[in-house]
Amino acid sequence: MFLSLLSIHPTPALTWVAIGGILDLYVFLGPDPQSVIRQYLQVIGYPMMPPYWSLGFHLCRWGYTTTLTTRHVAQRMHNATFPLDVQWNDLDYANKDRVFTFDPWRFGDLPEMVEDFHERGMKYILILDPGISSSSPPGTYSPFDEGLKRDVFIKNATGHILIGKVWPGQTAFPDFTNPETRRWWEDCIRDFHSKVPVDGLWIDMNEPASFVQGSAEGCPASDLENPPYTPKVVGGQLSSGTLCMSAQQKLSTHYDLHNMYGLTEAYATHSALMNIRGQRPFVLSRSSFPGIGRFSGVWTGDVGSDWEQLRYSIPAVLQFGLFGVPLVGADVCGFGGNTTEELCVRWMQLGAFYPFMRNHNDKPNAPQEPYVFGQKAQAAMRSALNLRYSLLPFLYTLFHHAHTSAATVARPLFMEFPTDDNCQAVDRQFLWGSSLLISPVLEQGAVELAAYLPSGTWYSLKGRYSLLPAPLDTINVHVREGHIIPQQEPALTTVASRRKPFFLTVALSAGGWAWGDLFWDDGDKLHTFETGHYCYVTFTAGQVGKRRVTFAFTVLTVSGLALPMSEVFSVQWAL
Ligand code: GLC
Repeated sequence: MFLSLLSIHPTPALTWVAIGGILDLYVFLGPDPQSVIRQYLQVIGYPMMPPYWSLGFHLCRWGYTTTLTTRHVAQRMHNATFPLDVQWNDLDYANKDRVFTFDPWRFGDLPEMVEDFHERGMKYILILDPGISSSSPPGTYSPFDEGLKRDVFIKNATGHILIGKVWPGQTAFPDFTNPETRRWWEDCIRDFHSKVPVDGLWIDMNEPASFVQGSAEGCPASDLENPPYTPKVVGGQLSSGTLCMSAQQKLSTHYDLHNMYGLTEAYATHSALMNIRGQRPFVLSRSSFPGIGRFSGVWTGDVGSDWEQLRYSIPAVLQFGLFGVPLVGADVCGFGGNTTEELCVRWMQLGAFYPFMRNHNDKPNAPQEPYVFGQKAQAAMRSALNLRYSLLPFLYTLFHHAHTSAATVARPLFMEFPTDDNCQAVDRQFLWGSSLLISPVLEQGAVELAAYLPSGTWYSLKGRYSLLPAPLDTINVHVREGHIIPQQEPALTTVASRRKPFFLTVALSAGGWAWGDLFWDDGDKLHTFETGHYCYVTFTAGQVGKRRVTFAFTVLTVSGLALPMSEVFSVQWAL
Protein backbone atom coordinates (compact mmCIF):
# COMPACT_ATOMS: atom_id res chain seq x y z
CA MET A 1 0.00 0.00 0.00
CA PHE A 2 1.26 3.47 -0.79
CA LEU A 3 0.39 6.44 1.33
CA SER A 4 0.99 9.98 0.35
CA LEU A 5 0.91 13.04 2.52
CA LEU A 6 -1.42 15.43 0.77
CA SER A 7 -1.49 18.45 2.98
CA ILE A 8 -0.61 19.90 6.33
CA HIS A 9 -3.33 22.17 7.66
CA PRO A 10 -2.93 25.40 9.62
CA THR A 11 -4.82 23.67 12.44
CA PRO A 12 -3.25 20.58 14.01
CA ALA A 13 -4.39 18.12 11.33
CA LEU A 14 -2.98 16.02 8.50
CA THR A 15 -4.66 14.63 5.43
CA TRP A 16 -3.38 11.30 4.12
CA VAL A 17 -4.48 9.81 0.84
CA ALA A 18 -4.12 6.08 0.24
CA ILE A 19 -4.07 4.52 -3.22
CA GLY A 20 -5.99 1.61 -1.77
CA GLY A 21 -4.90 -1.65 -0.22
CA ILE A 22 -5.25 -2.58 3.39
CA LEU A 23 -5.15 0.23 5.92
CA ASP A 24 -4.55 -0.64 9.57
CA LEU A 25 -4.65 2.41 11.77
CA TYR A 26 -3.24 2.39 15.30
CA VAL A 27 -3.20 5.31 17.69
CA PHE A 28 -0.59 5.21 20.46
CA LEU A 29 -1.46 7.46 23.32
CA GLY A 30 1.87 7.71 25.07
CA PRO A 31 1.66 10.01 27.04
CA ASP A 32 5.32 10.85 26.42
CA PRO A 33 7.33 10.23 23.22
CA GLN A 34 9.29 7.29 24.63
CA SER A 35 6.07 5.47 25.61
CA VAL A 36 4.58 6.11 22.16
CA ILE A 37 7.61 4.38 20.64
CA ARG A 38 7.41 1.51 23.12
CA GLN A 39 3.71 1.00 22.37
CA TYR A 40 4.45 1.12 18.62
CA LEU A 41 7.26 -1.41 18.98
CA GLN A 42 4.99 -3.67 20.99
CA VAL A 43 3.01 -3.97 17.76
CA ILE A 44 5.82 -4.19 15.18
CA GLY A 45 8.43 -6.00 17.29
CA TYR A 46 11.46 -4.98 19.33
CA PRO A 47 14.77 -4.69 17.50
CA MET A 48 17.29 -7.53 17.32
CA MET A 49 20.46 -7.56 19.39
CA PRO A 50 23.32 -6.88 16.97
CA PRO A 51 26.63 -8.73 17.19
CA TYR A 52 29.19 -6.72 19.18
CA TRP A 53 31.60 -6.53 16.23
CA SER A 54 28.97 -4.83 14.08
CA LEU A 55 29.27 -1.74 16.30
CA GLY A 56 32.89 -1.35 15.21
CA PHE A 57 34.05 0.55 12.12
CA HIS A 58 33.08 -0.75 8.65
CA LEU A 59 34.89 0.16 5.43
CA CYS A 60 33.44 -0.28 1.97
CA ARG A 61 33.46 1.15 -1.53
CA TRP A 62 32.22 0.29 -4.98
CA GLY A 63 35.48 -0.11 -6.85
CA TYR A 64 37.64 -2.42 -4.73
CA THR A 65 38.04 -4.36 -7.94
CA THR A 66 40.29 -7.20 -6.76
CA THR A 67 41.12 -9.10 -3.59
CA LEU A 68 44.57 -7.53 -3.84
CA THR A 69 43.07 -4.05 -3.60
CA THR A 70 40.73 -5.10 -0.81
CA ARG A 71 43.57 -6.66 1.20
CA HIS A 72 45.70 -3.59 0.58
CA VAL A 73 42.97 -1.29 1.94
CA ALA A 74 42.62 -3.30 5.16
CA GLN A 75 46.41 -3.41 5.52
CA ARG A 76 46.76 0.34 5.08
CA MET A 77 44.07 0.90 7.72
CA HIS A 78 45.99 -1.35 10.06
CA ASN A 79 49.37 0.27 9.31
CA ALA A 80 47.92 3.70 9.99
CA THR A 81 46.42 2.39 13.28
CA PHE A 82 42.78 3.03 12.41
CA PRO A 83 40.34 0.68 14.10
CA LEU A 84 38.61 -1.50 11.49
CA ASP A 85 36.33 -4.38 12.37
CA VAL A 86 34.68 -5.12 9.07
CA GLN A 87 36.02 -4.99 5.53
CA TRP A 88 33.36 -5.01 2.80
CA ASN A 89 33.11 -5.68 -0.91
CA ASP A 90 30.51 -4.24 -3.24
CA LEU A 91 29.38 -5.99 -6.41
CA ASP A 92 32.96 -5.95 -7.78
CA TYR A 93 33.49 -9.45 -6.33
CA ALA A 94 30.75 -11.10 -8.38
CA ASN A 95 31.32 -12.86 -11.68
CA LYS A 96 29.49 -10.71 -14.26
CA ASP A 97 27.63 -9.03 -11.40
CA ARG A 98 25.77 -12.28 -10.62
CA VAL A 99 25.22 -12.87 -6.90
CA PHE A 100 26.41 -16.14 -5.31
CA THR A 101 29.41 -16.24 -7.67
CA PHE A 102 32.85 -14.69 -7.43
CA ASP A 103 35.08 -13.60 -10.27
CA PRO A 104 37.73 -16.29 -10.74
CA TRP A 105 40.42 -13.85 -11.91
CA ARG A 106 39.96 -10.77 -9.80
CA PHE A 107 38.57 -12.50 -6.71
CA GLY A 108 39.99 -16.02 -7.14
CA ASP A 109 41.38 -16.08 -3.59
CA LEU A 110 38.28 -14.56 -1.99
CA PRO A 111 37.86 -17.53 0.42
CA GLU A 112 41.48 -17.20 1.56
CA MET A 113 41.15 -13.45 1.95
CA VAL A 114 38.16 -13.88 4.24
CA GLU A 115 40.05 -16.47 6.29
CA ASP A 116 42.99 -14.07 6.56
CA PHE A 117 40.70 -11.32 7.83
CA HIS A 118 39.23 -13.72 10.37
CA GLU A 119 42.68 -14.61 11.64
CA ARG A 120 43.29 -10.93 12.28
CA GLY A 121 40.10 -10.61 14.32
CA MET A 122 38.24 -8.90 11.51
CA LYS A 123 34.94 -9.70 9.83
CA TYR A 124 33.90 -9.65 6.19
CA ILE A 125 30.65 -8.66 4.48
CA LEU A 126 29.61 -8.49 0.85
CA ILE A 127 26.63 -7.31 -1.12
CA LEU A 128 23.69 -9.41 -2.33
CA ASP A 129 21.16 -8.00 -4.76
CA PRO A 130 17.86 -9.84 -5.05
CA GLY A 131 17.80 -9.73 -8.88
CA ILE A 132 18.89 -13.17 -10.13
CA SER A 133 20.45 -13.17 -13.60
CA SER A 134 18.08 -14.95 -15.99
CA SER A 135 20.17 -14.85 -19.13
CA SER A 136 23.10 -17.16 -18.34
CA PRO A 137 23.12 -20.33 -20.51
CA PRO A 138 21.11 -23.10 -18.80
CA GLY A 139 23.28 -25.24 -16.56
CA THR A 140 25.82 -22.48 -15.89
CA TYR A 141 24.17 -20.47 -13.10
CA SER A 142 22.51 -22.65 -10.50
CA PRO A 143 20.74 -19.95 -8.42
CA PHE A 144 18.54 -19.29 -11.48
CA ASP A 145 18.29 -22.91 -12.65
CA GLU A 146 17.37 -24.10 -9.16
CA GLY A 147 15.06 -21.16 -8.63
CA LEU A 148 13.20 -22.05 -11.82
CA LYS A 149 12.84 -25.66 -10.72
CA ARG A 150 11.61 -24.65 -7.30
CA ASP A 151 9.29 -21.99 -8.66
CA VAL A 152 10.59 -19.17 -6.48
CA PHE A 153 10.32 -16.16 -8.79
CA ILE A 154 7.68 -13.43 -9.01
CA LYS A 155 5.34 -13.91 -11.97
CA ASN A 156 3.72 -11.37 -14.26
CA ALA A 157 -0.06 -11.06 -14.71
CA THR A 158 -0.10 -13.88 -17.28
CA GLY A 159 1.75 -16.30 -15.00
CA HIS A 160 5.19 -16.13 -16.66
CA ILE A 161 8.30 -15.19 -14.74
CA LEU A 162 8.59 -11.42 -14.62
CA ILE A 163 11.91 -10.30 -16.08
CA GLY A 164 13.37 -6.94 -15.10
CA LYS A 165 16.85 -5.47 -15.42
CA VAL A 166 19.47 -4.87 -12.74
CA TRP A 167 23.31 -4.84 -12.74
CA PRO A 168 23.80 -8.29 -14.36
CA GLY A 169 21.28 -7.51 -17.13
CA GLN A 170 18.01 -9.45 -17.31
CA THR A 171 16.92 -10.65 -13.89
CA ALA A 172 14.14 -12.53 -12.14
CA PHE A 173 13.05 -11.52 -8.64
CA PRO A 174 12.66 -14.00 -5.78
CA ASP A 175 9.27 -13.91 -4.08
CA PHE A 176 10.23 -13.95 -0.40
CA THR A 177 6.61 -14.33 0.67
CA ASN A 178 6.87 -17.92 -0.58
CA PRO A 179 8.31 -20.32 2.06
CA GLU A 180 9.98 -22.35 -0.70
CA THR A 181 11.79 -19.20 -1.84
CA ARG A 182 13.12 -18.70 1.65
CA ARG A 183 14.45 -22.29 1.66
CA TRP A 184 16.02 -21.82 -1.79
CA TRP A 185 17.59 -18.50 -0.64
CA GLU A 186 19.02 -20.23 2.41
CA ASP A 187 20.42 -23.02 0.20
CA CYS A 188 22.07 -20.42 -2.07
CA ILE A 189 23.60 -18.65 0.93
CA ARG A 190 24.67 -21.95 2.52
CA ASP A 191 26.39 -23.07 -0.65
CA PHE A 192 28.16 -19.72 -1.08
CA HIS A 193 29.04 -19.54 2.60
CA SER A 194 30.68 -22.97 2.44
CA LYS A 195 33.19 -21.37 0.05
CA VAL A 196 33.23 -17.77 1.27
CA PRO A 197 32.50 -17.66 5.02
CA VAL A 198 30.96 -14.19 5.13
CA ASP A 199 30.00 -12.82 8.54
CA GLY A 200 27.01 -10.83 7.40
CA LEU A 201 25.11 -9.78 4.30
CA TRP A 202 24.31 -6.45 2.72
CA ILE A 203 20.99 -6.60 0.88
CA ASP A 204 20.68 -3.80 -1.65
CA MET A 205 18.36 -2.84 -4.56
CA ASN A 206 15.51 -4.43 -2.62
CA GLU A 207 12.73 -1.89 -3.15
CA PRO A 208 12.91 -3.93 -5.47
CA ALA A 209 14.80 -1.68 -7.90
CA SER A 210 14.82 -2.37 -11.61
CA PHE A 211 16.25 -0.33 -14.48
CA VAL A 212 13.19 -0.93 -16.68
CA GLN A 213 9.69 0.17 -15.86
CA GLY A 214 7.65 -2.75 -14.52
CA SER A 215 9.25 -5.48 -16.61
CA ALA A 216 11.16 -5.99 -19.86
CA GLU A 217 7.77 -6.25 -21.55
CA GLY A 218 6.13 -3.34 -19.74
CA CYS A 219 2.96 -3.84 -17.67
CA PRO A 220 -0.61 -4.65 -18.70
CA ALA A 221 -3.26 -1.93 -18.48
CA SER A 222 -5.09 -2.50 -15.22
CA ASP A 223 -6.47 -0.71 -12.17
CA LEU A 224 -3.51 -1.94 -10.19
CA GLU A 225 -1.06 -0.24 -12.52
CA ASN A 226 -3.14 2.91 -12.79
CA PRO A 227 -5.22 3.30 -9.65
CA PRO A 228 -7.54 6.31 -9.34
CA TYR A 229 -4.87 8.15 -7.35
CA THR A 230 -1.12 7.95 -7.96
CA PRO A 231 1.20 9.83 -5.65
CA LYS A 232 4.02 11.89 -7.12
CA VAL A 233 6.47 9.03 -7.63
CA VAL A 234 9.66 9.42 -9.63
CA GLY A 235 8.84 8.43 -13.22
CA GLY A 236 5.11 9.03 -12.76
CA GLN A 237 3.98 5.37 -12.57
CA LEU A 238 3.79 3.05 -9.58
CA SER A 239 5.93 0.61 -11.56
CA SER A 240 8.62 3.21 -12.39
CA GLY A 241 11.98 1.81 -11.34
CA THR A 242 10.39 -1.34 -9.97
CA LEU A 243 8.07 -4.23 -10.88
CA CYS A 244 4.55 -4.23 -12.33
CA MET A 245 1.91 -3.78 -9.65
CA SER A 246 -0.04 -6.61 -11.28
CA ALA A 247 2.88 -9.00 -10.74
CA GLN A 248 1.93 -12.06 -8.71
CA GLN A 249 3.49 -13.17 -5.46
CA LYS A 250 2.51 -16.12 -3.31
CA LEU A 251 0.77 -13.96 -0.73
CA SER A 252 -0.90 -11.44 -3.05
CA THR A 253 -0.26 -9.04 -5.91
CA HIS A 254 2.88 -6.94 -5.94
CA TYR A 255 0.54 -3.97 -5.53
CA ASP A 256 -0.22 -5.15 -2.00
CA LEU A 257 3.29 -6.31 -1.19
CA HIS A 258 5.62 -3.85 -2.92
CA ASN A 259 6.67 -1.94 0.21
CA MET A 260 7.38 -5.18 2.06
CA TYR A 261 9.89 -6.58 -0.42
CA GLY A 262 12.89 -5.49 1.65
CA LEU A 263 11.28 -6.67 4.89
CA THR A 264 10.57 -10.13 3.50
CA GLU A 265 14.09 -10.38 2.06
CA ALA A 266 15.61 -9.23 5.37
CA TYR A 267 13.61 -11.87 7.23
CA ALA A 268 14.74 -14.61 4.83
CA THR A 269 18.38 -13.47 4.98
CA HIS A 270 18.38 -13.13 8.75
CA SER A 271 17.02 -16.64 9.29
CA ALA A 272 19.34 -18.10 6.66
CA LEU A 273 22.40 -16.60 8.35
CA MET A 274 21.16 -17.70 11.76
CA ASN A 275 20.70 -21.29 10.58
CA ILE A 276 23.97 -21.41 8.66
CA ARG A 277 26.32 -19.64 11.07
CA GLY A 278 24.55 -20.47 14.32
CA GLN A 279 25.46 -16.99 15.54
CA ARG A 280 23.82 -13.61 15.71
CA PRO A 281 23.05 -12.53 12.15
CA PHE A 282 24.10 -9.22 10.67
CA VAL A 283 22.01 -7.95 7.76
CA LEU A 284 22.03 -4.42 6.32
CA SER A 285 19.13 -3.43 4.10
CA ARG A 286 18.40 -0.42 1.91
CA SER A 287 14.63 -0.86 1.71
CA SER A 288 12.69 -0.95 4.95
CA PHE A 289 9.23 -1.42 6.40
CA PRO A 290 7.91 -1.37 9.98
CA GLY A 291 9.25 -4.44 11.77
CA ILE A 292 12.52 -4.71 9.83
CA GLY A 293 14.50 -3.79 12.95
CA ARG A 294 13.86 -7.32 14.23
CA PHE A 295 16.00 -8.70 11.44
CA SER A 296 18.23 -6.03 10.04
CA GLY A 297 19.97 -2.70 10.21
CA VAL A 298 19.41 -0.04 7.57
CA TRP A 299 21.59 2.54 5.87
CA THR A 300 20.17 5.69 4.40
CA GLY A 301 21.02 4.91 0.76
CA ASP A 302 23.04 6.87 -1.76
CA VAL A 303 23.73 10.18 -0.04
CA GLY A 304 25.84 12.82 -1.76
CA SER A 305 29.20 13.94 -0.39
CA ASP A 306 28.07 17.38 0.68
CA TRP A 307 27.39 19.36 3.84
CA GLU A 308 23.63 19.37 3.39
CA GLN A 309 23.53 15.57 3.30
CA LEU A 310 25.76 15.49 6.36
CA ARG A 311 23.17 17.61 8.20
CA TYR A 312 20.17 15.61 6.92
CA SER A 313 21.73 12.39 8.06
CA ILE A 314 20.95 13.26 11.71
CA PRO A 315 17.14 13.38 11.37
CA ALA A 316 17.34 10.33 9.08
CA VAL A 317 19.19 8.31 11.70
CA LEU A 318 16.97 9.54 14.53
CA GLN A 319 13.82 8.66 12.60
CA PHE A 320 14.90 5.09 12.05
CA GLY A 321 15.40 4.86 15.80
CA LEU A 322 11.75 5.84 16.22
CA PHE A 323 10.77 3.21 13.64
CA GLY A 324 12.40 0.44 15.70
CA VAL A 325 15.60 0.27 13.63
CA PRO A 326 18.31 1.44 16.00
CA LEU A 327 21.15 -0.05 13.91
CA VAL A 328 21.34 2.71 11.32
CA GLY A 329 23.82 5.07 9.72
CA ALA A 330 24.49 7.07 6.57
CA ASP A 331 27.43 6.44 4.23
CA VAL A 332 30.21 8.23 6.12
CA CYS A 333 31.97 10.91 4.01
CA GLY A 334 29.12 10.60 1.50
CA PHE A 335 28.55 8.10 -1.35
CA GLY A 336 27.95 10.23 -4.45
CA GLY A 337 30.56 12.70 -5.71
CA ASN A 338 34.00 13.50 -4.34
CA THR A 339 34.27 14.28 -0.66
CA THR A 340 36.68 16.86 0.73
CA GLU A 341 39.13 16.41 3.57
CA GLU A 342 37.25 18.74 5.91
CA LEU A 343 33.84 17.22 5.12
CA CYS A 344 35.20 13.72 5.59
CA VAL A 345 36.73 14.61 8.97
CA ARG A 346 33.45 16.10 10.17
CA TRP A 347 31.55 13.12 8.78
CA MET A 348 33.86 10.63 10.51
CA GLN A 349 33.29 12.58 13.75
CA LEU A 350 29.51 12.49 13.35
CA GLY A 351 29.63 8.94 12.00
CA ALA A 352 31.47 7.85 15.13
CA PHE A 353 28.10 8.43 16.79
CA TYR A 354 25.87 6.77 14.21
CA PRO A 355 24.80 3.51 15.82
CA PHE A 356 26.07 1.83 12.60
CA MET A 357 29.26 3.34 11.18
CA ARG A 358 30.36 2.56 7.63
CA ASN A 359 32.44 4.66 5.27
CA HIS A 360 31.18 3.83 1.75
CA ASN A 361 31.96 5.42 -1.60
CA ASP A 362 30.74 5.28 -5.20
CA LYS A 363 32.84 3.88 -8.04
CA PRO A 364 33.94 7.00 -9.92
CA ASN A 365 34.91 9.04 -6.87
CA ALA A 366 38.22 9.98 -5.30
CA PRO A 367 39.13 7.61 -2.45
CA GLN A 368 37.94 8.50 1.06
CA GLU A 369 39.50 5.89 3.32
CA PRO A 370 40.86 7.67 6.41
CA TYR A 371 44.50 7.00 5.44
CA VAL A 372 44.31 8.98 2.16
CA PHE A 373 44.10 12.30 3.96
CA GLY A 374 46.74 14.57 5.50
CA GLN A 375 48.23 13.84 8.91
CA LYS A 376 46.06 16.37 10.79
CA ALA A 377 42.88 15.00 9.26
CA GLN A 378 43.98 11.46 9.98
CA ALA A 379 44.65 12.33 13.60
CA ALA A 380 41.16 13.81 13.96
CA MET A 381 39.58 10.73 12.37
CA ARG A 382 41.66 8.36 14.49
CA SER A 383 40.64 10.16 17.63
CA ALA A 384 36.93 10.01 16.65
CA LEU A 385 37.25 6.28 15.99
CA ASN A 386 39.08 5.70 19.26
CA LEU A 387 36.41 7.64 21.11
CA ARG A 388 33.73 5.43 19.52
CA TYR A 389 35.64 2.26 20.36
CA SER A 390 36.12 3.41 23.96
CA LEU A 391 32.36 3.88 24.23
CA LEU A 392 31.35 0.53 22.70
CA PRO A 393 30.46 -1.13 26.04
CA PHE A 394 28.04 1.75 26.63
CA LEU A 395 26.65 1.60 23.08
CA TYR A 396 26.19 -2.15 23.36
CA THR A 397 24.30 -1.69 26.63
CA LEU A 398 22.00 0.79 24.87
CA PHE A 399 21.29 -1.83 22.20
CA HIS A 400 20.45 -4.27 24.97
CA HIS A 401 17.86 -1.82 26.28
CA ALA A 402 16.50 -1.30 22.75
CA HIS A 403 16.21 -5.08 22.34
CA THR A 404 14.59 -5.73 25.71
CA SER A 405 12.55 -2.60 26.40
CA ALA A 406 12.27 -0.61 23.15
CA ALA A 407 14.46 2.24 24.38
CA THR A 408 16.04 4.32 21.63
CA VAL A 409 19.81 4.29 21.06
CA ALA A 410 20.49 7.49 19.08
CA ARG A 411 17.82 9.67 20.64
CA PRO A 412 16.36 13.04 19.70
CA LEU A 413 16.52 15.60 22.50
CA PHE A 414 12.74 15.98 22.62
CA MET A 415 12.37 12.35 23.68
CA GLU A 416 14.57 12.80 26.71
CA PHE A 417 13.28 16.29 27.55
CA PRO A 418 9.66 16.21 26.37
CA THR A 419 8.62 19.24 28.40
CA ASP A 420 11.47 21.45 27.18
CA ASP A 421 10.05 23.29 24.15
CA ASN A 422 13.52 24.26 22.97
CA CYS A 423 14.27 20.60 22.34
CA GLN A 424 11.38 20.08 19.92
CA ALA A 425 13.22 21.33 16.87
CA VAL A 426 16.82 20.34 17.65
CA ASP A 427 18.05 18.31 14.68
CA ARG A 428 21.73 19.15 14.78
CA GLN A 429 22.45 17.45 18.08
CA PHE A 430 21.31 14.17 19.55
CA LEU A 431 21.83 11.86 22.48
CA TRP A 432 23.12 8.36 22.98
CA GLY A 433 20.63 6.97 25.48
CA SER A 434 19.83 9.53 28.11
CA SER A 435 23.32 10.55 29.08
CA LEU A 436 25.64 11.46 26.20
CA LEU A 437 24.97 14.61 24.20
CA ILE A 438 26.61 14.79 20.78
CA SER A 439 27.07 18.20 19.15
CA PRO A 440 28.84 17.76 15.81
CA VAL A 441 30.12 20.45 13.45
CA LEU A 442 27.93 20.45 10.35
CA GLU A 443 29.10 23.60 8.57
CA GLN A 444 32.08 24.06 6.33
CA GLY A 445 34.82 26.16 7.92
CA ALA A 446 33.23 26.24 11.39
CA VAL A 447 35.54 26.00 14.39
CA GLU A 448 32.87 26.63 17.00
CA LEU A 449 29.17 25.91 17.25
CA ALA A 450 26.19 27.13 19.17
CA ALA A 451 24.80 24.14 21.00
CA TYR A 452 21.72 23.70 23.16
CA LEU A 453 22.38 22.17 26.54
CA PRO A 454 19.12 21.23 28.27
CA SER A 455 18.90 22.20 31.92
CA GLY A 456 21.11 20.37 34.41
CA THR A 457 24.85 19.99 34.45
CA TRP A 458 26.62 18.65 31.37
CA TYR A 459 30.22 17.68 31.74
CA SER A 460 32.50 17.99 28.78
CA LEU A 461 35.82 16.29 28.45
CA LYS A 462 37.12 19.62 27.19
CA GLY A 463 35.05 22.52 28.48
CA ARG A 464 31.58 23.73 29.44
CA TYR A 465 30.36 26.48 27.16
CA SER A 466 27.27 26.82 25.10
CA LEU A 467 29.36 28.39 22.35
CA LEU A 468 31.51 25.34 21.99
CA PRO A 469 34.99 25.43 20.60
CA ALA A 470 35.17 22.85 17.84
CA PRO A 471 38.48 22.89 15.99
CA LEU A 472 38.93 20.23 13.33
CA ASP A 473 40.17 17.63 15.79
CA THR A 474 37.15 17.94 18.10
CA ILE A 475 33.65 16.57 18.32
CA ASN A 476 31.82 17.84 21.37
CA VAL A 477 30.40 15.14 23.58
CA HIS A 478 28.86 15.95 26.94
CA VAL A 479 28.04 13.60 29.77
CA ARG A 480 24.85 14.35 31.65
CA GLU A 481 24.99 14.74 35.40
CA GLY A 482 23.96 11.72 37.42
CA HIS A 483 25.29 9.22 34.89
CA ILE A 484 28.10 6.70 34.75
CA ILE A 485 29.38 5.65 31.33
CA PRO A 486 31.08 2.24 31.08
CA GLN A 487 34.02 2.34 28.70
CA GLN A 488 36.93 0.26 27.56
CA GLU A 489 40.27 1.22 26.13
CA PRO A 490 40.08 1.26 22.33
CA ALA A 491 41.93 -1.14 20.04
CA LEU A 492 42.13 -1.87 16.32
CA THR A 493 39.29 -4.43 16.41
CA THR A 494 36.54 -5.26 18.86
CA VAL A 495 38.12 -8.68 19.41
CA ALA A 496 41.09 -6.79 20.86
CA SER A 497 39.15 -3.97 22.55
CA ARG A 498 36.96 -6.47 24.41
CA ARG A 499 40.10 -7.70 26.17
CA LYS A 500 41.17 -4.23 27.26
CA PRO A 501 40.59 -2.79 30.73
CA PHE A 502 37.23 -1.23 31.46
CA PHE A 503 36.87 2.21 33.00
CA LEU A 504 33.97 4.34 34.14
CA THR A 505 33.36 7.99 33.49
CA VAL A 506 31.36 9.31 36.42
CA ALA A 507 29.38 12.53 36.21
CA LEU A 508 28.00 13.33 39.65
CA SER A 509 24.70 15.14 39.87
CA ALA A 510 24.33 18.41 41.77
CA GLY A 511 23.00 16.24 44.59
CA GLY A 512 26.20 14.20 44.51
CA TRP A 513 25.23 10.86 43.01
CA ALA A 514 25.46 8.95 39.74
CA TRP A 515 24.18 5.72 38.21
CA GLY A 516 25.11 3.60 35.21
CA ASP A 517 24.92 0.07 33.88
CA LEU A 518 26.63 -2.43 31.60
CA PHE A 519 25.25 -5.38 29.67
CA TRP A 520 27.94 -7.86 28.73
CA ASP A 521 27.86 -11.18 26.97
CA ASP A 522 29.93 -13.08 24.42
CA GLY A 523 28.84 -10.61 21.73
CA ASP A 524 28.04 -13.21 19.07
CA LYS A 525 25.92 -16.02 20.50
CA LEU A 526 22.20 -16.18 19.81
CA HIS A 527 19.59 -15.19 22.40
CA THR A 528 22.02 -14.60 25.27
CA PHE A 529 19.58 -12.43 27.17
CA GLU A 530 16.67 -14.78 26.59
CA THR A 531 18.70 -17.80 27.76
CA GLY A 532 20.46 -16.00 30.60
CA HIS A 533 24.01 -16.13 29.20
CA TYR A 534 24.98 -12.64 30.15
CA CYS A 535 26.20 -10.42 32.89
CA TYR A 536 24.47 -7.21 33.92
CA VAL A 537 26.21 -4.75 36.21
CA THR A 538 24.86 -1.56 37.72
CA PHE A 539 27.11 1.10 39.21
CA THR A 540 26.35 3.79 41.72
CA ALA A 541 28.59 6.54 43.00
CA GLY A 542 28.07 9.26 45.52
CA GLN A 543 29.63 12.07 47.41
CA VAL A 544 29.85 12.06 51.20
CA GLY A 545 30.67 15.52 52.45
CA LYS A 546 33.58 16.65 50.33
CA ARG A 547 34.77 13.15 49.61
CA ARG A 548 33.79 11.34 46.44
CA VAL A 549 33.16 7.72 47.13
CA THR A 550 33.19 4.88 44.74
CA PHE A 551 30.79 2.30 44.17
CA ALA A 552 28.18 -0.09 44.97
CA PHE A 553 28.28 -2.63 42.17
CA THR A 554 25.34 -4.89 41.68
CA VAL A 555 26.49 -7.70 39.50
CA LEU A 556 23.89 -10.00 38.11
CA THR A 557 25.81 -12.88 36.62
CA VAL A 558 23.66 -15.53 35.10
CA SER A 559 24.74 -19.00 34.01
CA GLY A 560 28.23 -18.51 35.37
CA LEU A 561 29.20 -15.95 32.74
CA ALA A 562 31.63 -13.71 34.54
CA LEU A 563 32.97 -10.49 33.14
CA PRO A 564 35.97 -11.55 31.06
CA MET A 565 38.28 -9.15 32.84
CA SER A 566 39.50 -8.36 36.29
CA GLU A 567 36.19 -6.76 37.27
CA VAL A 568 38.20 -3.79 38.36
CA PHE A 569 36.85 -0.66 36.81
CA SER A 570 39.11 2.32 37.02
CA VAL A 571 37.27 5.56 37.47
CA GLN A 572 37.53 8.94 35.86
CA TRP A 573 35.49 11.73 37.42
CA ALA A 574 33.90 14.19 35.06
CA LEU A 575 34.87 17.67 36.20
C1 GLC B 1 23.37 0.95 -4.96
C2 GLC B 1 23.69 1.02 -3.49
C3 GLC B 1 25.13 1.41 -3.29
C4 GLC B 1 26.02 0.40 -4.02
C5 GLC B 1 25.65 0.31 -5.49
C6 GLC B 1 26.41 -0.79 -6.23
O1 GLC B 1 23.46 2.20 -5.53
O2 GLC B 1 22.82 1.89 -2.82
O3 GLC B 1 25.44 1.46 -1.92
O4 GLC B 1 27.36 0.78 -3.89
O5 GLC B 1 24.26 0.04 -5.62
O6 GLC B 1 26.16 -2.06 -5.73
